[in-house]
Amino acid sequence: MLDLLVTHANLPDGRSDVDIAIRDGRIVEVAPHIAGPAHSTIDAADQLVIPPFVDAHFHMDATLSYGLPRVNQSGTLLEGIALWGELKPQLTADALVQRALTYCDWAVAKGLLAIRTHVDICDPRLLAVAALLDVKRRVAGYLDLQLVAFPQDGVLRSPGAMDNLRRALDLGVDVVGGIPHFERTMADGALSVQLLCELAAERGLRVDMHCDETDDPLSRHIETLAFHTQRLGLQGRVTGSHLTSMHSMDNYYVSKLIPLIAEAGVSAVANPLINITIQGRHDTYPKRRGMTRVPELLAAGVPVAFGHDCVMDPWYSLGSGDMLEVAHMGLHVAQMTSQAGMRACFDAVTTIPAAILGLEGYGIAAGCNADLVLLQARDPVEAIRLRATRLAVIRRGKVIARTPAATAALDLPGRPGETSFRKG
Ligand code: FE2
Repeated sequence: MLDLLVTHANLPDGRSDVDIAIRDGRIVEVAPHIAGPAHSTIDAADQLVIPPFVDAHFHMDATLSYGLPRVNQSGTLLEGIALWGELKPQLTADALVQRALTYCDWAVAKGLLAIRTHVDICDPRLLAVAALLDVKRRVAGYLDLQLVAFPQDGVLRSPGAMDNLRRALDLGVDVVGGIPHFERTMADGALSVQLLCELAAERGLRVDMHCDETDDPLSRHIETLAFHTQRLGLQGRVTGSHLTSMHSMDNYYVSKLIPLIAEAGVSAVANPLINITIQGRHDTYPKRRGMTRVPELLAAGVPVAFGHDCVMDPWYSLGSGDMLEVAHMGLHVAQMTSQAGMRACFDAVTTIPAAILGLEGYGIAAGCNADLVLLQARDPVEAIRLRATRLAVIRRGKVIARTPAATAALDLPGRPGETSFRKG
């Protein structure tokens, strides 16, 4: 007896009309016309069933703090940083936990079931670390939360930050973070990369650094990150987040840099919603886009994910945990309008970040976790176009969120009575 049978599903790899059989929280078979019986059945009706969305880059300690203690009037990075500085002393663990739990509710409703979040460790009380470790435990039944020890003010620049970072790892934070471009000098930035990579190697941890989130073409800390990744044998465990300076770099230099990143097995995370709004602010016209070179990195074999980065916080007033909105923006900013490019944008919010986080049992195949999202779309491109409704979100074989189909009722002479924005 199966626990759940999902029938007539389209899959992201192009297979159509397949059934997915689930028992004891795992997928046991994926094939056409699986005979039951099953305790319950969901007819996907030729719509897309995918593994859950994954966000490889987020800041859950700041999320939903929009308006606290005041709104970012200019909408700029600098006012955002100032605002975060004003907010930090006022943070309480309970309020932080409640905001994070609310965001996790939104995430689940949007089929986003795994998030890597950075947590600022520059506060010696480690208040946000304790709060997010609590949230991680509380949501573990329905959402995988991975924490990165993030020295927002610079691990060398901020007094005591290295010690705080070690203590955060001791408490159970999963990943070593960094922000080399925010250190006082290029040399300090490079030194921070070296020290943090050595710390990760020593402890057997992954690395995810905010790296070169600037329009300065000479901000080249990604080169140092790739170098130390190779030197320390950390291939496959290191991520460079943002990498926006690559947008402004000289092409000749990039022709040497990208093969180094690929060789080092370093993955990249672009944050299109944030990079397109925060970067290029010192430009008049033409204004740079400020997103890293996504198609070029992909062409070299570098895994590239798209992250949400921010939702309703000092830096970004918008967002709802919808990774299809992130993919939609990434597709436009990187001009990834080819068929393969649009598919890569879908992978950038599903399979690629799942690999970056090192999620086990991710995917739609026998033996994988029974974590699935039924979308009101026929294929990944339509899903991005419509930011498709998540009709059902399934975790370990159990439906944990449902949203009614998006259909507009019409009252027009000689026309159908409704539309759901799909052709034919
Ligand atoms: Fe970030």
